[in-house]
Amino acid sequence: MRLKDKKAIVTGAARGIGFEVARRFAEEGAAVIMADIDDNGAESAQKLRSTGLDVSFCRTDVSSNDSVLNLVETAVQLFGDVNILVNNAAINIPGSILELSEEVWDRTYQVNVKSMFLLSRAVVPIMQRSGGGAIVNMGSANSYVAEPRLTAYVSSKGAILMLSKAMALDFAADGIRVNCICPGWVDTTFNDSHADLFGGRDEILKSIHDIHPIGRTIQPVEIANTALFLVSDEASAITGAGILVDGGYTIK
Ligand SMILES: NC(=O)c1ccc[n+]([C@@H]2O[C@H](COP(=O)([O-])OP(=O)(O)OC[C@H]3O[C@@H](n4cnc5c(N)ncnc54)[C@H](O)[C@@H]3O)[C@@H](O)[C@H]2O)c1
Repeated sequence: MRLKDKKAIVTGAARGIGFEVARRFAEEGAAVIMADIDDNGAESAQKLRSTGLDVSFCRTDVSSNDSVLNLVETAVQLFGDVNILVNNAAINIPGSILELSEEVWDRTYQVNVKSMFLLSRAVVPIMQRSGGGAIVNMGSANSYVAEPRLTAYVSSKGAILMLSKAMALDFAADGIRVNCICPGWVDTTFNDSHADLFGGRDEILKSIHDIHPIGRTIQPVEIANTALFLVSDEASAITGAGILVDGGYTIK
């Protein structure tokens, strides 16, 4: 029970990596609010509650300040405190700068980057009052290396790594640690529209050894376990770090 008595918010938790993060945190004793723009998050939370875990769902658009403030207010009413925040929600709309509309560019930055500013801005004062906390921002291997025809996403993930470092600096003295997990190709539907530009997921996975030296994609729970470590006391000296969980993708 590494997160006993901890109160956590996880965004983008209706499915994929965020769902696994919420599950692992709750299994380790945390009370978790699963935030997502997708109403299916209610069903996802119910699924976890039926196994005895302390989770609830709050419909949230992380790009909207009003929605974010409602989420944090809900957390304060339910828990009286927030010790852990995982900024995980993101969108991934492929294209080079000649293929992307201005709307897609703006929406990518609102959902992927501005959301972290809005939510952290609302949560950090609560953490300061209770003597500390831990924030994990979901970056990507694309925080370090680019990929073709993925400009808005790749650049947003680069920004998230540096945002994490800047926040880590500003709040280290308050006992608030901020880290950035940088996954490689994780087995969710997130990359499908980008993969379709290059012959589809199955075609690309034929050369998975070239992409990930470990020879396979990554499972959401492997990212969730990394998040669990980073927000636990076991990582008490780790802040401002970009933690690659990429199957070796960025080695060469
Ligand atoms: N899957 C991968 O290969 C991979 C690789 C590197 C990084 N990541 C990162 O991991 C995170 C999760 O990705 P995933 O693979 O689980 O994707 P996913 O599409 O399965 O889950 C993303 C979740 O975010 C939610 N979401 C989208 N816009 C939102 C908004 N405005 N407000 C609230 N919620 C919103 C979606 O509804 C969805 O539930 C993302 O930050 C992504 O960039 C994923």
